[in-house]
Amino acid sequence: MRQLLWFLAPVWSTFALAGLTEAQVHPQRYFYDAVVSDSAIASQVGADILAKGGTAVDAAVAVGFALAVTHPAAGNIGGGGFMIVRRRSGETVALDFREIAPLSASKTMYIGPDGKLTRDSLVGYRAAGVPGTVAGMAEAHRRFGKLRWRDLVEPAVQLANRGFKMPRGLAESLRDSADVFRPFPVAYAQFCRSGRFYAAGENFTQPDLGRTLERIRDHGAKDFYEGETAGLIVKDMVAKGGQITAADLKGYRVVARAPLVGKYRGYDVITMPPPSSGGIALLQMLGMVEGDDLGTLGWNSSGTLHLMVESMKRAFADRAEHLGDTDFVSVPVTQLLAPDYISRLRKSITDRALPAKEVKPWGKESEQTTHYSIIDIDGNAVSTTYTLNGSFGAGAVVEGAGFLLNNEMDDFAAQPGTPNLFGLIQGEKNSIQPRKRPLSSMTPTILTKDGKLAMVLGSPGGPTIINTVFQTLINVVDHGMNIQRAVASPRFHHQWMPDAIRWEPYGLGADLRKAMEAKGHVFEERARTMGSCHAIWTTGQGDRQVGVDPRISTSGAAGR
Ligand code: DON
Repeated sequence: MRQLLWFLAPVWSTFALAGLTEAQVHPQRYFYDAVVSDSAIASQVGADILAKGGTAVDAAVAVGFALAVTHPAAGNIGGGGFMIVRRRSGETVALDFREIAPLSASKTMYIGPDGKLTRDSLVGYRAAGVPGTVAGMAEAHRRFGKLRWRDLVEPAVQLANRGFKMPRGLAESLRDSADVFRPFPVAYAQFCRSGRFYAAGENFTQPDLGRTLERIRDHGAKDFYEGETAGLIVKDMVAKGGQITAADLKGYRVVARAPLVGKYRGYDVITMPPPSSGGIALLQMLGMVEGDDLGTLGWNSSGTLHLMVESMKRAFADRAEHLGDTDFVSVPVTQLLAPDYISRLRKSITDRALPAKEVKPWGKESEQTTHYSIIDIDGNAVSTTYTLNGSFGAGAVVEGAGFLLNNEMDDFAAQPGTPNLFGLIQGEKNSIQPRKRPLSSMTPTILTKDGKLAMVLGSPGGPTIINTVFQTLINVVDHGMNIQRAVASPRFHHQWMPDAIRWEPYGLGADLRKAMEAKGHVFEERARTMGSCHAIWTTGQGDRQVGVDPRISTSGAAGR
């Protein structure tokens, strides 16, 4: 059978190429396996691993390291994230390699002498949580890898040492981010050549990062947490006033969690539990709209938009009040997902917009993160979202190690009640404690139907992640869009507070706006793009349809 498929593959790829002229509407299609990410170069690295007989998890590890080189705004070894794996057998796991607060962290560490929030949770060494990515990749490989670890890290080593042609999108974003790097001379030298900016098409090498990746290739994650790289991190932290110590690094642990599983119109939705808020919010919102026929109401109609926005508000109000790291605080997951509660939420939706301040939580969140989706020849699937938090994280590169530090500490409620980078108001449950994981919105998700893999998706975008996943899923399931159209279509977003709908260019016609305003909705003044959802839809081997989000110009898919 495989031989026959091999024989047909060239015919199929010609067909796929024909679709490229209309990439907005025709999904690229592959026969056996597919990888889609914010970096076409990294996607090719993953596809090469699959072609060598690697599993989807092998490819995910290789893509994770490659993105750290080719997509430095978010791809990382100095950050953290989540990976949902679903094996062909049906076994699932959610690997949590989120950053943790250093041992010396405290609830008020970002509050200045004047009682006001400082910018330290966002910029520089104190903003960094203990990174989890390298441990996460190692754990994924330990559990599900088939190829040798060193062969998965090697492509990233080559990309860092030999370099790659600077894509236009990356050249522009590095120039635009000069202010982020300028206070940090090592980072400014690496990414902006100290002011002699890279031009598109120039070869971009990162020798310090290359050496770090070589050590990780040769000595495994141990190098990062206890070896030479750990030494470089600690030395830099001491020199620059950071908080991460050798004990912090040595004590970092990946947690394997049971994914949340919900139902939506016959699909099983396998998604991320806390410390992400994404899975709970997604399942709540799907639950609130399932009783209505969104397909008949129509895509981008005021009826559909109203219902979805009202669901978003209610889910985000619960997020603010109840969610945090379940290893530290109790989160009423069962209650928040109870059918009775969700039906009560649905019943509270009327024809009018409910002002945000009247939304009562139960009992009373650009492209700075990155998501990639992979399906291998056997139907194993991986959905990974990982991040440095803000674009290029804390802006600082570990001296001699060539990688950027995250500013994930800002995802905590540094001052409960004061909005964070994403304007999110968050509660006590997400306050800072040593070793605690900050609440996330990352929502890597996998859909199955009748036990068979159907879809792999996720997105960056802070709080907009959850709503991007919500809309992409509904675009396919309710509106029958193909996966490419589903990821490309304009999006909108409401996060409870601020009480306004964010919208994307070309997404809001004058009639729709009027109809929504008549119901009491308020819109943000200017349109802004949101998210970068890379998804794969499959009906089984022979059909891997890829949704490449066109919002990021470096994105791309690869496969066979
Ligand atoms: O974990 C979170 O929710 C955030 N740190 C994600 C940040 C993000 O998506 C930034 N991208 N625009």
